[in-house]
Amino acid sequence: MERFYIEGGRRLAGELEVQGAKNSVLPILAASVLHPGQSVLHHCPRLRDVEASIRILRHLGCKAGWEGDDLVVDAATIDRMDIPDGLMREMRSSMTFLGAVLARCGQALVSMPGGCELGPRPIDLHLAALRRLGADIREEGGSLSCKADHMTGCEIALHTPSVGATENAMLAGCGAEGVTVICNAAREPEIQDLQDFLAGMGHHVTGAGSSTIVVERGGHTHDSEHTIMPDRIVAVTYLAAAAAAGGEVVLRGIDYRHLSTVLSPLREAGCQVRSQRDTIHLAAKERLRGIAPIRTAPYPGFPTDAQAILMAALLQGKGTSVFVENVFENRYRHVDELVRMGADIQVEGRVAVVCGVERLSGAPVRCTDLRGGAALAVAGMAAQGVTCLSDVHHIQRGYEDLPRDLRALGAAIRCEDDG
Ligand code: UD1
Repeated sequence: MERFYIEGGRRLAGELEVQGAKNSVLPILAASVLHPGQSVLHHCPRLRDVEASIRILRHLGCKAGWEGDDLVVDAATIDRMDIPDGLMREMRSSMTFLGAVLARCGQALVSMPGGCELGPRPIDLHLAALRRLGADIREEGGSLSCKADHMTGCEIALHTPSVGATENAMLAGCGAEGVTVICNAAREPEIQDLQDFLAGMGHHVTGAGSSTIVVERGGHTHDSEHTIMPDRIVAVTYLAAAAAAGGEVVLRGIDYRHLSTVLSPLREAGCQVRSQRDTIHLAAKERLRGIAPIRTAPYPGFPTDAQAILMAALLQGKGTSVFVENVFENRYRHVDELVRMGADIQVEGRVAVVCGVERLSGAPVRCTDLRGGAALAVAGMAAQGVTCLSDVHHIQRGYEDLPRDLRALGAAIRCEDDG
């Protein structure tokens, strides 16, 4: 069982290139199923969730493997349309394969995606979108049996701008005849990346980044290459680590415009932040200050994935900061672990109130989920003494190599396998 040991209290200094985005590569790997040929992905992060997607692709009969830093998928040989329970449970975004497999094969058999770690995560919008396009979906004994001999483009209105449902509707729309219009679509930058990938393959997709996305199946798809966009939440993690521990870091290969709602509270807390198109420079020279309330919201609002991470940076700030989690019901599971390190946080429902403390102390803590785990690493950077992080497999779902990256910024962190 791997654990991370962090010796905290060291200022950070250094430069880092940000890895490719998990939330971009996963739907793109599902989308690669749409083309009976080759898709080459550059800047693809090596993550547990990517390996899980590769296993799904291979199960479906596709060829998928690494060639250096590129991930190459050949979906010409797809010969199955089912995804077994074990693979579906590995990650929630396995759900995106449903729209893609349905579009390519006209049928799909999957089980419900894995348990919930952030509160209930319904899939009603995914299923409603596919049904609108003409899919017949039967839900029985935890599995979904879907059939669509012929899907027809239509208007799909989402009651909430779900990222996954928008992606599933886009992928299924690529298999439908006619025009599909997705209203109240998610506007996350990763949706734009998916649009670019689909367009590169030959489909006609426009509007990503706005609330209305229009999808029209391309007459003929072709082999393509695509570069995965940088991971904005990984970037936030390393900026927060420097803000928490103090120091000066430069992140490269990241579009600062995707991070404006996070950079602004970091500035408010007392960090100096300078950004150019693909570079962010952060200097934290003094103890941070409490900030105005943070309310998570769909993009372009403050990302729910950055909530725990920013919270961890502010634990030793002067004054009080308030967080309101509006996207997921149960996204404060990291709080009890932070409290073990000496943090003062009160949670009531969707609200967490953080009162800055003078000192955090290293402690044995357990990662509860991906971003909660990253938050513990950030707090460990600022704490006096050694923090031992267990259950780091959560972190490895979304970070290529967190210890490697933090070491590049001057942190004392090591990974040990305790057997
Ligand atoms: C994606 C991201 C995840 C991020 C989240 C919100 C990926 C792989 N994951 O997750 O990191 O935290 O967006 O930015 O991209 N909802 C429904 N019905 C549905 C689907 C969703 O009510 O059918 C609700 C959810 O309960 C939640 C909200 O919509 O309250 C947003 O969820 P959604 O955008 O779907 O998140 P994911 O796509 O699962």
